[in-house]
Order: sequence, then structure tokens, then C-alpha cells
Amino acid sequence: MLIVPGTRFLIWGGDGWVAAHLKTLLESQGKDVVTTTVRMEDREAVLKLLDEVKPTHVLNAAGCTGRPNVDWCEGNKEATVRSNVIGTMNLTDCCFQRGIHCTVFATGCIYQYDEAHPIGGPGYTEEDPANFTGSFYSMTKGKVEDMMKHYPNVLILRLRMPVSDDLHPRSFVTKITKYEHVVDIPNSNTMLTDLLPAAILLAENMELGVYNFTNPGAISHNEVLTLFKKHVRPSFEWKNFSIEEQSKILKAGRSNCMLDTTKLINKLKEYNYEVPEIHEAYEQCFIRMAKNGTT
Ligand SMILES: NC(=O)c1ccc[n+]([C@@H]2O[C@H](COP(=O)([O-])OP(=O)(O)OC[C@H]3O[C@@H](n4cnc5c(N)ncnc54)[C@H](OP(=O)(O)O)[C@@H]3O)[C@@H](O)[C@H]2O)c1
Repeated sequence: MLIVPGTRFLIWGGDGWVAAHLKTLLESQGKDVVTTTVRMEDREAVLKLLDEVKPTHVLNAAGCTGRPNVDWCEGNKEATVRSNVIGTMNLTDCCFQRGIHCTVFATGCIYQYDEAHPIGGPGYTEEDPANFTGSFYSMTKGKVEDMMKHYPNVLILRLRMPVSDDLHPRSFVTKITKYEHVVDIPNSNTMLTDLLPAAILLAENMELGVYNFTNPGAISHNEVLTLFKKHVRPSFEWKNFSIEEQSKILKAGRSNCMLDTTKLINKLKEYNYEVPEIHEAYEQCFIRMAKNGTT
């Protein structure tokens, strides 16, 4: 592994969920890591911080994700653009001007199943244009990726429905165990335990470009919940509803799709790093949860 001497990571979005995982992971690896909550759109403050901290690598885990969920972005479009478009581009451009490698934790929620990519069919590759604009959040993310990918200092990692080994409120599993009703559609998911070490590996090795950043394969909500019941909470029960019924309780649509992970898996092979298929990854995750006493 090529580790540049004096490597220093600066994590943007320091108070966020993914950022906290990155910080813990880097610290556990004995890496030099600093976090910040400086607003990405504040060019002067961003450049000042880059000049002070002098990172070799920026990990951008900042973004407007909405609370309690992305529906918030529908009613707050200017604030969403300020962070997800102006801010993200500004930080990318500032890193470019200072010659800093920038890894962006982006989203794969920019696609939806269509005739050429039906459920069970081929997944979307990094080359496919975004085709899901049913939520303002996804629209901002798809458009900014299209611009950002032309920068020669940027690694774009498309996460989808990330899952942690605890029951953190932002984890996909926690969300679907708390909904009154859930849809049942296969999707690509990102198991943080499997993928975040890969993000560090790719960043340290100065990899560039766009990667679908999920475990291989797709898993349905019912398959996830069946495994959750088996390993973590035997008493767990849930109720399904249709996408049409779901759309009545949401302001914005939700992306459902499978991403093709061939590019990622082949790249990681160069570093002898393997990512388990999503069903296997969930088994392992829920076994870890049960061992840790998380119920
Ligand atoms: N969690 C998911 O389901 C998921 C899925 C795919 C991709 N992602 C992407 O992964 C990234 C991290 O997600 P997360 O789940 O960790 O989100 P999170 O917990 O909401 O953290 C995002 C952090 O970014 C900060 N932030 C927002 N706008 C900013 C700006 N303009 N300048 C500086 N900081 C800003 C937020 O701070 P404030 O609250 O103070 O604004 C927050 O602390 C996001 O870009 C998200 O879109 C997440």
C-alpha cells in the first residue's frame, strides 16, 4: 500500500454520522486526522482552514440530508442548493486550487429501476446518467456529481442506504424497523463496516473518479428484516405496503435501484480487499450486532 509520508486527513461535516465513523476508523488505524464543521460554501473560511491544517486528503462527508429525512429538502430548496451544490463544488474547487485529494461521500440515490435496468436485471454503472429526480435532494446530488467528476483531484464514492453495526437512527436498518409500514423492493446497500476501510484505502492511494460504493448485489426490505429477526430480535414483526401507498405519506419520491459494483470490486482487488455480497454482509452485520448485545 502506498502511504504518502505525512498523510493528514481533514474530515468535512465533522458532526455528521458518516464523518464520526470515518474519524473513529482513522484513529483506530493510528492516522493523523482532523475534523471540521466549517461551512463548505464559505470560500474564505475553507481556504483559510486548508492553509492552516495542510491536509493531504480531504474527506467530504458534509451534505444537507434533511431532518427527519430528505422530505425537508422539498421545502428548503435554497438551503439544500447552498450545501449540496454551492458548498460541495466550492470545497472541491478549493481542494483543487491547493492540490489536495478530495474524497466525496456522495449518493447512488440518483437512479430508479427502468426498462433497461429492471428489478433483477443489470445494475447502473458509473457511466449511466442519473435518471431519478423525484426528490430535490437527489436532483442536487446528481447534478453536482456531473460537474464535480471533471475535477482531477476528486474521488466520488456513491453510498446507498448505509448501514452501521449499531441501531443508530441514521442507519437504514433502524429506519425500516421503526416505520409503521415498509415497502419491499430490492436495493443496493452500503455496509459501513465493509466499505469505509475501502474508502480510506482508495483515498490513501490517490484513486480518482466515480465509484458505486455499495456491497455487490441487491437485497429487499423483507429480506433485511427477516435476517434482522433471525439474528437480532426474534420478536420483531412488520407490515408491508405498496409504493403507491408509500407515496401518499411522503413529500418526495425515493430512489430504488441496484448499482453495478464491478468497477469497485476490480479496483479493490488490486489492494487485496474484498467486499462481501449484500446478503452475506447483512448476516455478518447482524451476527456482530447480536454479539455486541444490540437488540
Ligand atoms: N445517511 C444516508 O442515508 C446517506 C446515503 C447516501 C449518501 N449520503 C451522503 O453522505 C454524506 C454524509 O451523510 P450522513 O448520513 O453522515 O449525514 P449527516 O449525519 O446529516 O451529516 C452531514 C453533516 O454535514 C453537515 N453539513 C451540511 N451542510 C453543510 C455545509 N454546507 N457545510 C459544512 N457542513 C455541512 C451537517 O451539519 P449541519 O447539520 O450543521 O448542517 C452534518 O453534520 C452526505 O453528503 C449524504 O448526502 C448519506
